[in-house]
Amino acid sequence: MAGMNNTNGTGQAMMRMVISIGVLIVATALLFLVAPESFYPWAKAIHILAVISWMAGMLYLPRLFVYHVDAEKGSVQSETFKVMERRLLRGIINPAMIVTWVFGLWLAWKVFGFQGGWLHAKIGLVLLLSAVHGYLAGAVRKFAEDRNEKPARHWRIVNEIPTLLMIAIVILVVVKPF
Ligand code: HEM
Repeated sequence: MAGMNNTNGTGQAMMRMVISIGVLIVATALLFLVAPESFYPWAKAIHILAVISWMAGMLYLPRLFVYHVDAEKGSVQSETFKVMERRLLRGIINPAMIVTWVFGLWLAWKVFGFQGGWLHAKIGLVLLLSAVHGYLAGAVRKFAEDRNEKPARHWRIVNEIPTLLMIAIVILVVVKPF
């Protein structure tokens, strides 16, 4: 029962986060209409907020898989992990990825005209990150159907991939080395 309460709490927290991202987007759309000249810093702020949410989810989801592997199939614990994984994916990771892409592409087009080696490399790495996202989404489905066969060690290693990509992406966009 404690597990279920926890899951509901997580769901509510995610709902609040989704609502706040939605409110932020509506506020930004209004700003775009009223004061288009100050839109650039706002778009960047929303981009960074979405990136933080996306990365938080991408780093936490494989960690949940590590614990889920140890829960017996059909147990209350295993079913609780399924709910947590589904809500994390649908409530945070998917919407955050969409907002990151929309505002990132807008910045890349409006401010940089899609020019710059750093930008091309960054977009390439974000495509890789999005592929990892797809892989994790597939894994959520497999876990939900009790079909995961990968050991905890596999998910520990997968956990490091978004971390490495994130480090390279942030260095590319902030340092702009080429
Ligand atoms: C989805 C594709 C993405 C595109 C097209 C994109 C593009 C951009 C562009 C053009 C900027 C503005 C840079 C500037 O004003 O100097 C920016 C800012 C930023 N992006 Fe992205 N981005 C994407 C995804 C990501 C991801 C996945 C991360 C992190 C993991 C990230 C982290 C950042 C950070 C930290 C900034 C602020 C940099 C600064 O102000 O110096 N972006 N992005």
